[in-house]
Amino acid sequence: MEIGIDKIGFFAPHMYVDMTNLAVARGVEPEKFTIGIGQSQMAVAPITQDPVTLAANAALEILDEEDRAQIDMVLFGTESGIDNSKSAAVYVHHLLGLKAEARAVELKQACYGATAGIQLAKGHIALHPESKVLVLGSDIARYGLKTSGESTQGAGAVVMVISAAPRILALDNDNAFLSNDIMDFWRPIYSEQAFVDGKFSNEQYVHFFNEVWKQYKEKTGNDLADFEAICFHLPYTKMGWKALRTELPNADESTQERLKANYQISTAYNRNIGNIYTGSLYLSLLSLLEQKEDLQAGAKIGLFSYGSGAVGEFFTGTLQPGFQRMLKKTDHENLFATRRELTVAEYEKIFEETLPKDGSTIELDIESDPAAICVAGMQDNKRLYINKEHLIEQK
Ligand code: HMG
Repeated sequence: MEIGIDKIGFFAPHMYVDMTNLAVARGVEPEKFTIGIGQSQMAVAPITQDPVTLAANAALEILDEEDRAQIDMVLFGTESGIDNSKSAAVYVHHLLGLKAEARAVELKQACYGATAGIQLAKGHIALHPESKVLVLGSDIARYGLKTSGESTQGAGAVVMVISAAPRILALDNDNAFLSNDIMDFWRPIYSEQAFVDGKFSNEQYVHFFNEVWKQYKEKTGNDLADFEAICFHLPYTKMGWKALRTELPNADESTQERLKANYQISTAYNRNIGNIYTGSLYLSLLSLLEQKEDLQAGAKIGLFSYGSGAVGEFFTGTLQPGFQRMLKKTDHENLFATRRELTVAEYEKIFEETLPKDGSTIELDIESDPAAICVAGMQDNKRLYINKEHLIEQK
């Protein structure tokens, strides 16, 4: 039985800051951000969006009534969750109107959370082929204003329906993975911002890729020539390249050219969104699927997932006939085209806005946010969520 990605949805907030403008404001050469880091724009979340709403908005675009009847598990990977007890999955389960007979759980291991969700989903579907699992990767990456990590922030969500007989990508069962307790990036529960040992995190990312790739090759006998493309977790678009280029010299010239060209295409959306942590690898996959026009069914795609702290995994899948029909390319291009550019001063102001932490009541301006699902306010230490489409239906 084939198991894999049947549907894939994406959502990002309606605002961004241009990286050239950010560089000028920070007194660094724009090329450092646009070439050295490889980012052109950075998505900025308004106070009316959080990881729950980003994920719920991404899921809205792909779920139909059949999915709602079949989804019996919701696995939410995030490292910027809103509650230390209640899972973000339960909120999303409610906001999407999923059936009550379902399990809803949040998974955490830095950017690896959604990958963990996919692997658990595969096991569940293998036991219950009639089920579908909703896997969500949603985050707001924050390092702080004027920090060295600032240029690698971002916000957004990618969600996937995992099922038997998947219509986009059938996943293979030859995964290679690795865990090691390191301090390259972490966020203690008292901190709104991540702490990072930037250079060490870059080194470890490459090291984990080399290790899981070696393990994968030994296990399967496959090599780079077997792949049409390899997608990477992309904290910034230069990072995956730093890893890929260490292995490319082992491939023949045409494989090198193909993987290099397809790597570029697989960074297209990430370049204009920034790091969305758990969703980043899947945003890269989406870039490849939607932006590489001559991609063919049957192509083998490699995926490298890395979550600081750290867990890495290399896994693979095969594109399914007609996968293009399952994509929302035009919607995603519209999402990018209709975003509003912020000045650096506006971005800084929005970055500093936070929800109350003292139990006081606040009502937010949801009309200025075009998203269907928003945080409408807070009361008694509870976030109040709203689905504007339901309100319209009720009128
Ligand atoms: P930095 O110290 O500001 O930058 O930090 P830099 O001095 O290393 O410069 C960056 C690149 O720009 C360098 O290229 C420079 O040469 C180049 P490289 O040597 O790396 O190839 N450069 C220029 N290029 C062209 N023209 C110029 C120019 N000037 C400089 N004029 C750093 C950069 C990424 C370390 C920082 O932003 C950071 O700490 N970010 C957060 C950590 C991170 O993203 N780590 C990635 C690996 S860990 C990971 O992926 C997991 C993560 O997603 C979290 C999770 O799992 O949850 C982060």
